[in-house]
Amino acid sequence: MATTPACALVIFGASGDLAQRKLVPGIYGLAKEKLLSEQFMLVGFARHEMTDEQYRDECKAAIEKHARLKPIDAEVLNWLLQRTYYVTAADYGDDQSHKRLQDRLTELDAVHGTGGNRLFYLSTPPAQFEPIIDCLGQHGACSYEKAVRRLLVEKPFGTDLTSARELNAIAHRYFDESQIFRIDHFLGKETVQNLMVMRFANAIFEPIWNYKYIDHVQITVAESLGVGTRGGYYDKSGALRDMVQNHIFQLMALVAMEPPVALDAQSIRDEKVKVYRSIRAMRPVHVDQQTVRGQYTGGVIGTVTTAGYLKEKDVAANSRTETFTAIKLFIDNWRWSGMPFFLRTGKCLSEKVSEVVVRFRSPPLTLFQKQCESPVYPNDLIIRVQPDEGISWRLNGKMPGGSMNIRSVALDFSYKSTFHAEAPEAYERLIADAMTGDQTLFIRADEVEAAWAVIDPIEIAWAASKRGPEPYAPGTWGPESAQKLIELDGRRWHGNGEEPEPIIACSL
Ligand code: BG6
Repeated sequence: MATTPACALVIFGASGDLAQRKLVPGIYGLAKEKLLSEQFMLVGFARHEMTDEQYRDECKAAIEKHARLKPIDAEVLNWLLQRTYYVTAADYGDDQSHKRLQDRLTELDAVHGTGGNRLFYLSTPPAQFEPIIDCLGQHGACSYEKAVRRLLVEKPFGTDLTSARELNAIAHRYFDESQIFRIDHFLGKETVQNLMVMRFANAIFEPIWNYKYIDHVQITVAESLGVGTRGGYYDKSGALRDMVQNHIFQLMALVAMEPPVALDAQSIRDEKVKVYRSIRAMRPVHVDQQTVRGQYTGGVIGTVTTAGYLKEKDVAANSRTETFTAIKLFIDNWRWSGMPFFLRTGKCLSEKVSEVVVRFRSPPLTLFQKQCESPVYPNDLIIRVQPDEGISWRLNGKMPGGSMNIRSVALDFSYKSTFHAEAPEAYERLIADAMTGDQTLFIRADEVEAAWAVIDPIEIAWAASKRGPEPYAPGTWGPESAQKLIELDGRRWHGNGEEPEPIIACSL
């Protein structure tokens, strides 16, 4: 990555959890990698009353706890803290507080030479987006002919199509689409970006990348932890809105999209939007047949005991919010006609893993199945997003010896062992891209709306259904119905323990 240009990064919600766990440590990561300009400054804005010094202490503690690159480099840390400031807000929509913020920015521009370039990062609950954007607009902060002004917005970007459209309209009151950077941190992950390289920089995939050779695609984003302290937010959201509409759909779009005409933001995002628009709309009867909802009960995962979702802090005792979902859907276009995509995500599952499994069709003649004692498994291409980022090809190989015994073998490519380098944190990449103005890894307005248009009918059917989510025990792969969803199709989830782990035939 190249050094980013001069700018001020203003974080709204500066003392919140995301800012402390990801944003501030990410900015330190950029500083440590020498990717920040000498003319950079960080300004926090939040309702907690604090001085610059107190905010610097908070940032220092956050960096010491969460930085990717350890041990902490004292010189880099000091460099960053010297250009870190804080403005207390009476409220996010308080005019006087915004005036103080703008005055302070102007004064600090002169000290740090940031040239009036400002990135406004909204890391607050979505209810604050409108007051903040309106105040920025009224104070003339959103555009300035001599400098760059940009808006970065954290998810959730709306809770349905209507609210997403409203948020887009609010942002467009004062910002042009080219200034808006909607964040989906999964796009900042290395392996997610590598999906495009794998597909479009290797000629072998294109001829077989369609329904004729692929049997189905599975996308799993499983987490072993529960909702933790985020019950208040999560209970109004649920797994479908929290994970599928954004992270899982992004993975699916990168797997399913047509080759873009160029590697620029517009060309790539045009192709992703086409994928969402091609998803077959679900009527209530399809929602019944093609979706599963689950909610974790009390139990033990490893050494952690949970009392169950309904006992989590800030969760309604009779909540019907799903903490797990599995969905089968179809992309009705030339490439994927009639071929299912299975998506699943959940909290309190047996492990934390995000992966895409492309399962190929069986060979046309089942020659070996008839003759061998050992089963012959279909070929899988497994793209591991996390942990242990990499790509694995599952093939069938003959076991040495006189008889025709077949064994699943894997050609394994692991990022860590191949490149001997730590991938940057997703937020480091995204913040740097926003500073340079590259929108490729950010969600465009029509993209976010097209994704909600797929989600809405499912949410509506679930809300109208008499049935709530099915309970599942923590440490499992979700409710029984999630197995049935795929097994009734004669398929099975990867990694459910039925198939032997392959022998690693080749490890990169
Ligand atoms: C967030 C969701 O967007 O992504 C969380 O709101 C989830 O519920 C998190 O835990 C997962 O991100 P990661 O990078 O830890 O896989």
